[in-house]
Amino acid sequence: MAENDYAIVCTGLQKKFGAFTAVESLDIKVKKGEIFGFLGPNGAGKTTSIGMLTTLVTPTSGTAKIANYDLAGEGALVRSKVAVIPQEFALFKALTAMENFWYIGTLYGMKKEEITKRAEELLKVVNLYDKKDVISGGFSGGMKQRLSVAVGLLHEPEILFMDEPTTGLDPQSRIAIRELTKKLNQEHGMTIVYTTHDMEEADKICHRIVIMDHGNVIAQGTSDELKKKYGKGRVVELELDGFGEGRYDKKLLEELKKLADARDISVVEGRIELHINANDGQIVSKITKFLENKKASILEFKISEPSLEEVFLNLTKKDLRD
Ligand SMILES: Nc1ncnc2c1ncn2[C@@H]1O[C@H](COP(=O)(O)OP(=O)(O)OP(=O)(O)O)[C@@H](O)[C@H]1O
Ligand SMILES: [Mg+2]
Repeated sequence: MAENDYAIVCTGLQKKFGAFTAVESLDIKVKKGEIFGFLGPNGAGKTTSIGMLTTLVTPTSGTAKIANYDLAGEGALVRSKVAVIPQEFALFKALTAMENFWYIGTLYGMKKEEITKRAEELLKVVNLYDKKDVISGGFSGGMKQRLSVAVGLLHEPEILFMDEPTTGLDPQSRIAIRELTKKLNQEHGMTIVYTTHDMEEADKICHRIVIMDHGNVIAQGTSDELKKKYGKGRVVELELDGFGEGRYDKKLLEELKKLADARDISVVEGRIELHINANDGQIVSKITKFLENKKASILEFKISEPSLEEVFLNLTKKDLRD
């Protein structure tokens, strides 16, 4: 890919607060038009990274190009191309939805009619048009978050940074934010950098993901790539009619293990559990054919995929963070 096919390219971005290193070295490339996930335990450096990429936090060292502008030398141009939806809401609670747009739009030097026109469009995108004249302080968490996104889009940015947009929201509002994120990406062509602690959510909406811990990027790739590389593989559970009573059982287990190239095979409460590698696409048909040949009748056949949460815990370990 040519350099200008990327929305973000950064090399060795570092941030120290005094002697403390919040981000050791951020080296990432975000393609135009992708939803890029930032995952990591509390204190990993996600918000600091977003701060650096949006000019809110000055890097200690390193370089970055955001929307093809140089982060250090062209800060104002970078700011014109990005929007940040911060971890804490940044709305003016005493103002109505529309007044929030007027306030922010004026700061961007936009004319009132221009602001109103764009605000009306954006309020429709986030399903808040009928609330345009309602004081935003009384909105639910989900509505506030949607309004924050809409206000963030007022100056027509190309890259949207969403810092834990679904944290603290109810399931309905979380789904609404996810759908909105996908819509902005697919229909409006926005490049989106998205942080979340919800692994299932990241798996659902992010095209690619970085996992950070203690200020470092420790893994990156698509969800499938991460699962293949860092997941412990898949587990096949089998329940066979009459298994556990026959004298050929042990041999069957040995053959199954060999056939599936399994790392481990065990019998748990009469069920066979096979721990296999994640990348054998033929595994289901291989096992069923083998069992058919053995005239074994299958009562239950389950196969579980490695989850992104498992990958995350394998990489970041289970100890709690300060
Ligand atoms: N202004 C600051 N001064 C000193 N230390 C800071 C400052 N901002 C962040 N830190 C520290 O830098 C580290 C990274 O913080 P950051 O907010 O980037 O983490 P995070 O990955 O966003 O975490 P969370 O998931 O809790 O939002 C933390 O240890 C934090 O305490
Ligand atoms: Mg944060």
